[in-house]
Amino acid sequence: MQYSRGQFITFEGPDGAGKTTQIEKLAAYLKSKNHPYLLTREPGGTRISDAIRTLILHPEHTEMINETEVLLYAASRAQHVKEKIIPALNEGLIVLCDRFVDASVAYQGYGLGIDLKKITMINKFATGGLEPDRSYFIDISPQFARKRLLQRNGHEALDRIEQKNIQYHEKVRKGFLQLYERHRDRVCLIDGHQSVDQIFDTIIRDFQAVFHSE
Ligand code: TMP
Repeated sequence: MQYSRGQFITFEGPDGAGKTTQIEKLAAYLKSKNHPYLLTREPGGTRISDAIRTLILHPEHTEMINETEVLLYAASRAQHVKEKIIPALNEGLIVLCDRFVDASVAYQGYGLGIDLKKITMINKFATGGLEPDRSYFIDISPQFARKRLLQRNGHEALDRIEQKNIQYHEKVRKGFLQLYERHRDRVCLIDGHQSVDQIFDTIIRDFQAVFHSE
């Protein structure tokens, strides 16, 4: 799928890596520079995609089979890409998206063990082939992330995916690291054990260099 002028930037990492804080900081930076941008997230970002998010993440939906999970993430993404992301890119906006296809490869591919070729094929159909121009991966150990999530919210507030065991989250982390190895030209990998300011410093320096922004 083609778009004319904008830039498409995604943020990824295990749950509790702190990517939402970082994406908000980058949005604040763009605002301060009067760069038009769109801040959005997956699963979600449109009315239909948000309804699918609720369905996927509901802690009581423990009977959800793996195939359903893959297809629901992809369905949410298809609606989001066509209804929101592509129009914003065509208007010349910088689109900051909290998660995208890499999350399906890491969580459903590496985490659940679903054939990566199938995940790629389904998501190509969903996105029309749209790929990020730059991706920031915040890497963190599952133990560190779990501690942070529990401190933040307590166990009852964890969603269906966050509640999965540490072994699952280890596989997801490994998935992100392998994706980084395969897409070093697109992905900037950052150590998420650092302070919020140190992480943002790395992101902003990379962003300025890649997009020639000051
Ligand atoms: P969030 O916590 O970053 O909003 O993401 C919601 C959860 O959904 C998180 O646990 C990661 C997971 N997820 C997938 O498993 N596959 C996907 O394709 C996406 C976008 C998110």
